[in-house]
Amino acid sequence: MAVPDPAERIEQLRTEIEYHNERYFLEDEPEISDAEFDAFMRELRELEAAHPELVTPDSPTQSPGGVAAATFAPVPHDVPMLSLDNAFAREELLAWHDRIVKIVPGPIEFVGEPKLDGLAISLLYEQGRFTRAATRGDGVTGEDVTPNVATIASVPKRLSGADLPERLEVRGEVFMPLQAFEDLNRRQGEAGDRLFANPRNAAAGSLRQKDARITASRALDFFAYQLGVQRGGPKLRSHHETLVWLASLGIPVNPHIEQLSDVDALYSFCDRTLEHRHLFGYEIDGAVVKVDDLAQRAEMGTTSRAPRWAIAYKFPPEEKTTILLGIFVSIGRTGRATPFAQLEPVFVGGSTVGLATLHNQDEVARKDVRPGDTVIVRKAGDVIPEVVGPVLAKRKRGARKWVFPKNCPACGAPLVRLVGESDHHCVNVECPEQRVQRICYFAGRGAMDIEGLGEERVRQFVDAGLLSDVADIYSLTVARLLPLERMAQKSAENLVQAIESSKTRGLARVLVGLNIRHLGPTAAQAVARVTGDLAVIEKTSEEELTAIDGVGPVIAQSVQQFFSVKDNRTVVAKLRKAGVDLTAPRVAPVAGGPLDSLTFVLTGGLATFTRESAQAAIEELGGKVTSSVSKKTSYVVAGENPGSKLAKAESLGVTILDEEGFQALLKDGRS
Ligand code: IVH
Repeated sequence: MAVPDPAERIEQLRTEIEYHNERYFLEDEPEISDAEFDAFMRELRELEAAHPELVTPDSPTQSPGGVAAATFAPVPHDVPMLSLDNAFAREELLAWHDRIVKIVPGPIEFVGEPKLDGLAISLLYEQGRFTRAATRGDGVTGEDVTPNVATIASVPKRLSGADLPERLEVRGEVFMPLQAFEDLNRRQGEAGDRLFANPRNAAAGSLRQKDARITASRALDFFAYQLGVQRGGPKLRSHHETLVWLASLGIPVNPHIEQLSDVDALYSFCDRTLEHRHLFGYEIDGAVVKVDDLAQRAEMGTTSRAPRWAIAYKFPPEEKTTILLGIFVSIGRTGRATPFAQLEPVFVGGSTVGLATLHNQDEVARKDVRPGDTVIVRKAGDVIPEVVGPVLAKRKRGARKWVFPKNCPACGAPLVRLVGESDHHCVNVECPEQRVQRICYFAGRGAMDIEGLGEERVRQFVDAGLLSDVADIYSLTVARLLPLERMAQKSAENLVQAIESSKTRGLARVLVGLNIRHLGPTAAQAVARVTGDLAVIEKTSEEELTAIDGVGPVIAQSVQQFFSVKDNRTVVAKLRKAGVDLTAPRVAPVAGGPLDSLTFVLTGGLATFTRESAQAAIEELGGKVTSSVSKKTSYVVAGENPGSKLAKAESLGVTILDEEGFQALLKDGRS
């Protein structure tokens, strides 16, 4: 078998990466670990380095990543909420110090603060009353999360003291203490719900709840570290004075903040904070050092991204050693067999780690980790833990190299690795584990979103012979469910009701749920909008599919292949028979409209439109929305946190519209 063509592999990787980006950022439900994602990125980077002619501006390697989502009402910040520049080593701290003394000669004093690993928040107090809370968003516009922040006990609802300012905007960090995080995950586990990967994700997820009662149950905490806007109240000269004053009003300020008089004190603060990082009771991922004197700060100024008067000294990722109890293989919904490490549980980077992915056969070989080894486990600030490698000095005599199993642990079918691929797959489409995973995916949040049909239930129903494919879900009735263990009348009724409501999710969701390789939510949406009916897709050729904007040859081939399999067509027929809506409103371009023959690409979040409403507005006037930028694109509409599409538009000279420009164009088109 031939090694895949690099151009083809690059396209595959980009499609895969885009898909997982959407799962992570839009669906809030990553399907692979960060490390696996990084492995895709690494492979793509390496291939692009070897073939620079294949690098395109919209490649995921060329952008910072992230997909904008707009869920809450927008709040424009009076003063931008900036980020911080980072220093990863002592020399970088020193370089920062050298830079600022060049701007402001003369003695500079500092304040050192732990860098809390949560999310930035702006609190507004008017006449001493808490009136609004907003997230940082893109720094210019945040999201209104007032009802949620109001549930945080340590955020005062009224300020105390005599000289209260008329208006006071305080900035700080919302975070989840470690104990609260452990409790929450225990509760999530008991209820069969998703576990949060770390306290920061848990804090972010808790603040983004539409129902503030859920936030209220999550034990979040808050420390202020900065003043936004102040109207009235005392004249403040230094940061430290500001913090002392905020504390006097009843606003929580971190007690571990210190005044530092010179650069040596600054180093020692960073070292001490690193040394004590586990004693805080909440996660910190560094130390922040800030110039104390506010007049000096003003002289130093800010860049568009971060102030020059502060720097974050980021801690290295945390590493611990533990015992590798065994290496096992898990089977995913596509049959992919992923080796993972079972570890003697170890507390690292803010949570207890018992499992870590090992990605694939080559990774295990590269790391040469063997069952029984003492291994180093690393957890960077974010998410998934990684096995770095063995501590060879502690390797037991006779420790055997791990061999990739020849057979699927679930069904015994061969595990096959194709030439040119890094993964093994279980070749048996009937494999019970693949079936469970496929059904879970169909019922999951990104697809049919059937509440109450999680992995445990799916497994139970498959074992009981009630489910063998996704369409069987619609044959579940209260009477069929009731005889099962742990199934009360009420839960059976609720589940059947949830299944019933999922029938109207529409074609795009069904397509996602069918688990067609490479077909992510955006491409599924494009296929659904153009074809309007699953019956049409079944008859659409690969060439016709490729002609759909946002559908490349890899996706087209995969869709076509999927529907060429008889069993898949049978499942579709069963879904249709069960009354699942397999249609989508078909979008016929409005010929002769003012935007006729113009193509638009949307990137980033818009304040006054959802993605769907922006698309509908364009199409109503005869324009077309596509997902990738090319020379033929007429306009790129760039909202908050635009993705790589903006850079591509710039490089191709495509006209870029901000939200105002977009609105003006629609208005002109309509008038
Ligand atoms: S000061 C203009 N102080 O770190 C400066 N930020 O990486 C505003 N953070 O967005 C930030 N602890 O969410 C500051 N003691 C601290 C902090 C802190 C955590 C976060 C904050 C910021 C991010 C930048």
